[in-house]
This record gives sequence, C-alpha cells and structure tokens, in this order.
Amino acid sequence: MADMKQAFVTGYPIKHSRSPLIHNYWLRHYGLEGSYTAIENSPESFAGFLKSFAEQGLSGGNVTIPHKETAFAFCEKRDAAAVAIGAVNTLWLDENKVVNGGNTDAYGFAANLDAQMPGWDTDLTSEKTALVLGAGGASRAVIYALLTRGFSRITLINRTVERAQQLAEHFNNGNLKAKIEACGWDKAQDFVSSADLIVNTTSLGMSGHGEIQSFPLDLNVAKSGALATDIVYIPLETAFLAQARQAGLRCVDGLGMLLHQAVPGFEHWFGVRPEVTEKLRQIILDDILKV
Ligand code: ATR
Repeated sequence: MADMKQAFVTGYPIKHSRSPLIHNYWLRHYGLEGSYTAIENSPESFAGFLKSFAEQGLSGGNVTIPHKETAFAFCEKRDAAAVAIGAVNTLWLDENKVVNGGNTDAYGFAANLDAQMPGWDTDLTSEKTALVLGAGGASRAVIYALLTRGFSRITLINRTVERAQQLAEHFNNGNLKAKIEACGWDKAQDFVSSADLIVNTTSLGMSGHGEIQSFPLDLNVAKSGALATDIVYIPLETAFLAQARQAGLRCVDGLGMLLHQAVPGFEHWFGVRPEVTEKLRQIILDDILKV
C-alpha cells in the first residue's frame, strides 16, 4: 500500500520499549492503515538512520535513550520545547520533507497531571513552588513544563550538585525568567514544607536500579494539599509515591506521562489526535506486570 504511513521508535537497546504497544493500539482503535515498529540503532548506526529514514519510506518516529541529543543536533527545524530542553524525542517530516524535531516529554508530564489532577497548576493562591528531585534528561523536560505552567519558584536537588547547577543555569539564563535554586540532597528536606508540587525524576526506587528501603525525605511535613508525582512507572507505586501517599499527599504515578507524550507524534504521522484512555493504560499496565 503506497500511502500507508510507517513510523518507528529507535533507541539502544529498544526491545523493552512500550511505544509500539501504545501506537499499534491506537492504529487498531481508530481503524487506520499504518505501522509503528521498533528499530534498534547503535550510536554508530544512528546518524546514518537519521539521514535515510525518509528515503526508506518512513514518516517519522520516536527517538529514545541514548539518541535524543544526536537527533536534536541533526534536525533542521525544532519546536520550542526541544530547543529549551536540548533533546528531541519525536521526528516528523513537514510538507517539504524536511525533518522536524520536537520534544513531547514536557507536554506528557503536564498533560498527565492535567488529566489526573485537574487544577494542579491553577488552584494555587500564592507563588507556585516546586521541588524537583534529580537533574538528568527527564528533569529538564519536567522543569520546562513547570516553567511554562507558571511555577516561579523551583528548587532542584541532585546527588551531583554541579549537574543541578548547570541545569539551573541553563534555564536561569534562558528566556523563561526562571529562578531555579540548585542544591544537594543535604538541603532537600528544608524545601519540602513550602512545595506545592514534589517531583521525583531520579532512578531511586526504579526496578532494576537497586532496591531502596525508604526514600530519603520526610514527606509528613509537606503542605496540606501538596501533590507528589514520579516519572518512574516501574514499579507503578515507587517508594517515593508510597511515602507520599502515607503522608497524605495527592499522588500521580508516572505511567500517564509515557502515554501522553505519545499523543503529538501519533497525530503528526497518522493525522488523528489519539485519546489516552483507561483501557490503553490497562493494556500497558498488564504488559508491565507480565515481566
Ligand atoms: P534520566 O534521563 O532518566 O533523567 P539520568 O540522566 O541517568 O536519567 O539521571 C538519573 C537521575 O537519577 C540523576 O539525577 C541521578 O543523579 P546524578 O546526576 O547525581 O547521577 C539520579 N540518581 C540515580 N541514582 C541515584 C542515587 N542512588 N541517589 C541519588 N540520585 C540518584
């Protein structure tokens, strides 16, 4: 079928990606002709793949670890989120077949909170205050999302303090008027009681990254009504979220971010804006629980 749209997810390794499950569910659900497949590319083969995917008849796709920065450098056109974050996770071709790069992680983060906790960014009376734990790639996307939703006070905590400082400087010197403070874990507890939102972006408590007995923060001192969210979704209830729940915080798990970040890409390639539903969430959850 000449006109059948074909999209991909590429990374290294890629076999654990759940993106094919998400996009193929939507293709079936909306009765669309199309395909979405996982294509593994090593760091050596990725540049060649970027140059040739359009010639191979592919419409675009998702890019994941470790290729997001290479994809960013390659793209001729980038959306505002990709520029601010410095990484591209979604590629599509425009009407002139020029490769465009976007970053939908920040969108996915905010859209998940919009869906699970409506008003999370508007129902606050005073200055919007966030505590962000971790300063890796995911943290960049979270901070960009928070800045675009008007969080003016953000504290960034990281084990490697220099990494947090670099990330804070990146946004403080950008055009979003950020005033991010960077600290080590020894200061983290001081910021718990003033935070409206606490986000864990570290791999602490993630399956396969070493078990932790407890998350190194006392969340009992958090504000009443404070919100906790994790970007890790395996396990769904991380040690951070379990402690937050026990301390009475409102909690949102990270699975929704994975589902929502997929929406803009699907729309680019297949022309339909898909819906994140409870049924889709259950399909991915069942797949996670199978492992
Ligand atoms: P991602 O792109 O998913 O954010 P990453 O770039 O590897 O992944 O970042 C992982 C984050 O988890 C970092 O903030 C890391 O802290 P460092 O920058 O100091 O490495 C954090 N992290 C991982 N293991 C940790 C641990 N045992 N204690 C505290 N922080 C940890």
